[in-house]
Amino acid sequence: MNRLNILAIESSCDETAAAVATELNGGPVLLSSVISSQIEIHKEFGGVVPEVAARAHIENIIPVVAEALRDAKLSLRDITHIAVTAGPGLIGSLVVGVETAKAIGISRDIPLIPLNHLEGHIYANFIREIKNEKLKIKNLEPEFPLVALLASGGHSMLIHMPKHLKYEVVGSTRDDAAGEAFDKAAKILGLGYPGGPAISKAAENGNPEKYNFPIIDLTPRPSRNKDGFLIKPEPSLDFSFSGLKTSLITWVKKITLDGRPLTKKEQCDLAASFQKAVVECLSQNVLRAIEKYQPKTFILSGGVAANNLLRETLADRIAEKYPKTAYLIPESILCTDNAAMIASAAYYHIQTLKLQTKSSANFSAEPNMKL
Ligand code: KG4
Ligand code: ZN
Repeated sequence: MNRLNILAIESSCDETAAAVATELNGGPVLLSSVISSQIEIHKEFGGVVPEVAARAHIENIIPVVAEALRDAKLSLRDITHIAVTAGPGLIGSLVVGVETAKAIGISRDIPLIPLNHLEGHIYANFIREIKNEKLKIKNLEPEFPLVALLASGGHSMLIHMPKHLKYEVVGSTRDDAAGEAFDKAAKILGLGYPGGPAISKAAENGNPEKYNFPIIDLTPRPSRNKDGFLIKPEPSLDFSFSGLKTSLITWVKKITLDGRPLTKKEQCDLAASFQKAVVECLSQNVLRAIEKYQPKTFILSGGVAANNLLRETLADRIAEKYPKTAYLIPESILCTDNAAMIASAAYYHIQTLKLQTKSSANFSAEPNMKL
């Protein structure tokens, strides 16, 4: 058989992406990664418009796949597996990637691997090396057991992984996701879309101590047993961000009571204070999860992992409190949606599950796919 060459396709939300990965020294090595972002298209609507996203994917998918092959200096003849995000995500967006993968796989008799987008985010940390002129990265291999924080536009989860492809969700959000909180906050502050980068940019010129936001802790109150002894509950690993959003609305209303718009300074101070609160909420539960599971590695993943304050805060606190836990984060370009992470997850599916080399197109897009 040929050398392992995986073509991966990702189209779950508003990025059309394709990547090619191969194997080197028992790990996935990227040969190319192409991302066509729709940010400019959705900007004027203040968020992703599903119908518009689906149409843009249709226009972009073939050129993006062709560019990924070209950058990898390979043709479809060299590809041994096609991996594609099958869910979760927007149905109209997912279908474009899934049906494109099937069309190529069936016509060329190349085995297909449907994958979970969330798994992809986690496996962005397992890309060992990138061999391409446009991107150069060399990573350590994460050791198990590990704990991952997955914080994106649709999810906020803490995941315990005892080994490859085994996921135990130990904390999740009760309402908004962390990225969604950033997106909504940016809208409230008039900072535009996507919210995460807009908030962190404004925060660079703001005072994070200026406005107070609650640090949400969902640990139940201590209770008394029948003998009157105080029972201290285990600290909660769940998140809630909707209260922060309400708090932001309350601050904005208070500041603009006389009907004037927010000044630039107020916008930046609110962005910095809000960002600090989100990072504190995330960090609080990350440290609790590390304390509970004592993992060898902690990994950060998902679009919010591109946030510099979060990256630095966790680096400092983990080094101080848990110096034996290795801390890994993907390059920012591999945190937000991309197909390289899907290629990496596919590599471990192929190796761990010893996937057969027979093509099966017996799967469809699953917008609510669970990890
Ligand atoms: O993983 P991702 O690209 O897409 C989903 O799977 O949802 O994550 C997108 C989310 C958006 O909510 C965006 O605002 C957030 O990640 N994000 C950030 C930053 N860059 C992207 N949040 C905070 N700081 C950033 N620098
Ligand atoms: Zn994502």
